Amino acid sequence: MTSPSRSPIARLLPENAPFTPEQRDWLSGFFAGLMSIEEGVTALSPEASSALMASLQGGAPQAKGPADDGHDGDDHVGDDGAPWHDPSMPLPERMKLADGRPLRRQMMAAMGQQDCGQCGYTCEDYSSAIFARKEERLNLCVPGGKETTRTLKKLFDDLGASPAATAKASPAAAEPAAAVVKVAAAPGRSRDNPVAARLVSRTRLSKARSAKETWHIELDLAQSGLDYVVGDAFGIFPANDPALADAIIRAIGAPADFPVADRMLREVLIDGVSLSPAPDMLFQLISYVTGGERRQKAKALASGGDPDGDAETLDVLAALEKFPGIRPDPEAFVEALDPLQPRLYSIASSFKTNPGRVALTVDAVRYAIKGRGRLGVASTYLAERAEPGDGVRVYVQKASGFGLPADPSVPVIMIGPGTGIAPFRAFLHERMATKAKGRNWLFFGHQHRDCDFFYEDELSGMMAMGVLTRLSLAWSRDGEQKFYVQDRMREVGRDLWAWLAEGAHIYVCGDAKRMAKDVELALVDIVSQHGVRKVDEAVAFVADLKKKGRYQQDVY
Ligand SMILES: Cc1cc2nc3c(=O)[nH]c(=O)nc-3n(C[C@H](O)[C@H](O)[C@H](O)COP(=O)(O)OP(=O)(O)OC[C@H]3O[C@@H](n4cnc5c(N)ncnc54)[C@H](O)[C@@H]3O)c2cc1C
Ligand SMILES: NC(=O)c1ccc[n+]([C@@H]2O[C@H](COP(=O)([O-])OP(=O)(O)OC[C@H]3O[C@@H](n4cnc5c(N)ncnc54)[C@H](OP(=O)(O)O)[C@@H]3O)[C@@H](O)[C@H]2O)c1
Repeated sequence: MTSPSRSPIARLLPENAPFTPEQRDWLSGFFAGLMSIEEGVTALSPEASSALMASLQGGAPQAKGPADDGHDGDDHVGDDGAPWHDPSMPLPERMKLADGRPLRRQMMAAMGQQDCGQCGYTCEDYSSAIFARKEERLNLCVPGGKETTRTLKKLFDDLGASPAATAKASPAAAEPAAAVVKVAAAPGRSRDNPVAARLVSRTRLSKARSAKETWHIELDLAQSGLDYVVGDAFGIFPANDPALADAIIRAIGAPADFPVADRMLREVLIDGVSLSPAPDMLFQLISYVTGGERRQKAKALASGGDPDGDAETLDVLAALEKFPGIRPDPEAFVEALDPLQPRLYSIASSFKTNPGRVALTVDAVRYAIKGRGRLGVASTYLAERAEPGDGVRVYVQKASGFGLPADPSVPVIMIGPGTGIAPFRAFLHERMATKAKGRNWLFFGHQHRDCDFFYEDELSGMMAMGVLTRLSLAWSRDGEQKFYVQDRMREVGRDLWAWLAEGAHIYVCGDAKRMAKDVELALVDIVSQHGVRKVDEAVAFVADLKKKGRYQQDVY
């Protein structure tokens, strides 16, 4: 890699800017994307450096600030104290940044950093709850997966020996706990208290030629009495594929009706436990019931090793097939598995136009490994296993910082490629129902216009009615080169800037790892070019939009 210190881009950063070599590396990549607007830029001011930190909070690795003195102070997300808060940063890098910080902060760095709410908390609150021993479950972080659980377990063990753990009586130690005490949630308002909804219908949005399989799902909430506001997400408790449960039962040679607690083994494998990926505990169990080289391999897998280079591919069935012939006690086997977690989906309807119902836009996850088809548990549960009329356990996950402006006359710009369109369909329905005066501009993109244009008729109707003021489209695989929503944004940058200058709020939904960052870069680019600002000023402008709640994201 070119050393950023020799790169012309690095000259943008003042010598005394508080960046580590990794941060300089990251920033050089960031500015590389802005080279087209580099002219006239001399260096980032210290203020702009901090603005950049805040703006990309979670984007660039940040320097340890003065608050980082090892005490368990209030260095929360939003301050410069969580440099690891970046969903695209690998876990080892995040842990390196948290090295030497208090255990609670290291626990936060171990999380998936998406603040997605699937665990029922933000990343920061989940770590605080574990640190305060208010939350015993260390395997709730879906985006972080096994490596997060593994790291949390290790940190939790360290907690036993940490001075904070023995200082329970001190008010300072009790403080983080207070912030995360969970009050029993009203029915349907938390993953801990789901209610029953009824699947009404599913309609395929992607057409036959599409590489995707995306569904419009409608659920009836009438029995549950549940409601929601646009911007919220919807939690679904899925069920595993019964054929997979049966294959697992065959692999361990147990009877399907073997009693496990008050239920039968097959039932528990269908709706009680996660069948992918294989947890460390399962390998530990296998190591107890096998010997020799197999035992050593199982032990290695149980501690995060990868003796055969296939650890990533091992779901529960593949793990059992790797150690054929093992016969664990079915009850111990079930105990070694993780609980089946709910999944969240952005709500794609407005309660005002669709009372008593909720709509979701769900991409079915299917892929194959070594010839066996693998299914995303919740998306395929909704796409094929739940039948219209079936009951589904659900809850509403309140949005934190994602919603329409309170003032209905404020214009909104919505950027939602793929399933990212979901909350914006809801926004448009809401603005239509409330006869909001504000203008609405949607950027949608996907692979092919002819088969991936979700809600095309509806969007055309809303254009004709004047609800949708402007629709900008980007088809990534219709031309010779990839063309994404941010390319379209750049093309119409002058108008986009004009909307922003008139006070528009801007929203992004969809892929967290690449798209959301690329869109942000494009926005900085547009502000710089059309708002006639230097790069550091444009970065500060975008940071300010975020701070004021005018730039909101729902990314996963
Ligand atoms: C706030 C929020 C809103 C969301 N909104 C939506 C939405 O509107 N629509 C939507 O469709 N999703 C949405 N999601 C994502 C959704 O929650 C699920 O993560 C998604 O549906 C997959 O869940 P699953 O149970 O079907 O798959 P899982 O059983 O969780 O399997 C997914 C896992 O499979 C593995 N995998 C996937 N593809 C491959 C592959 N090709 N090769 C190898 N491994 C692979 C990956 O490890 C991946 O994490 C949202 C997530 C959040 C947090
Ligand atoms: N955890 C899971 O298993 C899971 C399940 C479903 C969705 N997701 C997440 O949700 C995202 C949305 O999935 P989706 O099926 O709705 O659509 P998607 O895969 O994000 O694709 C939507 C469009 O975005 C384009 N795109 C790819 N990279 C981009 C970038 N850097 N900037 C802008 N656009 C880009 C795609 O183009 P090309 O494809 O032509 O590059 C496609 O045209 C996924 O990317 C994934 O991160 C996760």
